[in-house]
Amino acid sequence: MINLTQRPRRNRKNQAIRNLVKENDVMVSDLIFPLFLIDGKNKKTQINSMPNIFRLSKDLMLKEIETCLKLGITTFDIFPSLNDKLKDKKATESLNKKGLYLSTLKEIKKQFPEAVIMTDVAMDPYSSDGHDGFVKNSEIMNDETLEILAKMAVAQAESGADIIGPSDMMDGRVGVIRNALDKYGYSNVSIMSYTAKYASAFYGPFREALQSAPKFGDKKTYQMNPANSQEALIEADLDVIEGADFLMVKPALSYLDIIKLLKENFSLPIAAYNVSGEYSMVKAAAAKGWIDGDKIRDEILLSIKRAGASVILTYFAKEFALSKK
Ligand code: PBG
Repeated sequence: MINLTQRPRRNRKNQAIRNLVKENDVMVSDLIFPLFLIDGKNKKTQINSMPNIFRLSKDLMLKEIETCLKLGITTFDIFPSLNDKLKDKKATESLNKKGLYLSTLKEIKKQFPEAVIMTDVAMDPYSSDGHDGFVKNSEIMNDETLEILAKMAVAQAESGADIIGPSDMMDGRVGVIRNALDKYGYSNVSIMSYTAKYASAFYGPFREALQSAPKFGDKKTYQMNPANSQEALIEADLDVIEGADFLMVKPALSYLDIIKLLKENFSLPIAAYNVSGEYSMVKAAAAKGWIDGDKIRDEILLSIKRAGASVILTYFAKEFALSKK
């Protein structure tokens, strides 16, 4: 027998002891479930690249939210998938109170006042250019976009949003949105800023879901370069100064270092968006029988938590919650 004073395996010798020394755990209450909304009644359409995730019409979305609330999911991030006919250069439909998105938010809040509703602020679901900002001569115009985003945020708050999620990556948007919300009496509405949102190929399946891919070019003049981490600190500094309540990193898995970096440098809660492509990869490999999808899901969520995210936006939310029942 070798004389070893420290034998770390002692703390792993059975499940009870492993539980005692466990440093991190994922709870259903940490998760935000993104949901895709479409027009119509009793409609549920498949997103090819995202097995088990559907675009839902208002009535089915209300049912889905009811089911999820019972499973302990408290917070929902709603994205509209709009007909191309409703899209224009200025994302006008985003302000239409009678339109699909805002009227549905209102209905959700009315039926489930206890549900926390998060909304996305960016022009892409409503833009005929498929960009997050206003396009002029093939350029994404920062300051013109801010005016539109501020109006969009106020309209969403008016319709019952609890958390506004600016995902557009324009400079100054958090401050402009904070001012607009306060001016119109929504000082209680929070901002979860997409602080470090990278120009990532992992968003592919989401763009299929919303049919919102850019009509030209890419998003590299506003979303961050995956090569950079220092730049995330600049974005986070600005978001704190401008009044964000949460700092989000997106995507999550290839960016665990960024989650950790923000966690170590900022006191605001850190959120991470476990994005569509990250979900699709797991589902595809699991369908082939190459990996154990459930175990990989749990390990992925845990790794995001361990890196420092207290909030995780994930398409796995419902199946994770079901697995805990
Ligand atoms: C839109 C937006 C995107 C996502 C969330 N909000 C896509 C993009 O920026 O092109 C991606 C979410 C995902 O992939 O799950 N601004």
